[in-house]
Amino acid sequence: MDLNQLLERAIEARKNSYSPYSKFPVGAAVLTNDGKLYTGCNVENAAYGITVCAETVAVAKAVSEGSRNIAAVAVAADTAGVCRPCGSCRQFILEFGDEIVIIMGNLKGDRETRSIKELIPFSFSSRDLD
Ligand code: THU
Repeated sequence: MDLNQLLERAIEARKNSYSPYSKFPVGAAVLTNDGKLYTGCNVENAAYGITVCAETVAVAKAVSEGSRNIAAVAVAADTAGVCRPCGSCRQFILEFGDEIVIIMGNLKGDRETRSIKELIPFSFSSRDLD
């Protein structure tokens, strides 16, 4: 699977978004180094602050199924430019490797690819705990 196909899976996963409060559906997809795929969408709550983002759901699904070897994460929403992961999601993704590729997109076909390290420079990581 290539990165564009991964982004398409994120766009598909967005359809399952539960976002009655923001009305901003987001989809995500995680690809592992051994070719496994996990999708996610944002899941909101009446207690707004406990909402979970699409990327975090997809990464948690991968890790909870035994797949920590994440190669790439795709994220998509109906945005003017590409949809970028929030700071919390960047930190959550970084935990599993600073070379993870992030492909960001929207419904119009805009695409941008960066490494997670580029998206969260000067970050706090497990190395700081040693
Ligand atoms: N959201 C995500 O799912 N991922 C992000 O990286 C940014 C924001 C969701 C959270 C909330 O449900 C909605 O988008 C509006 O913030």
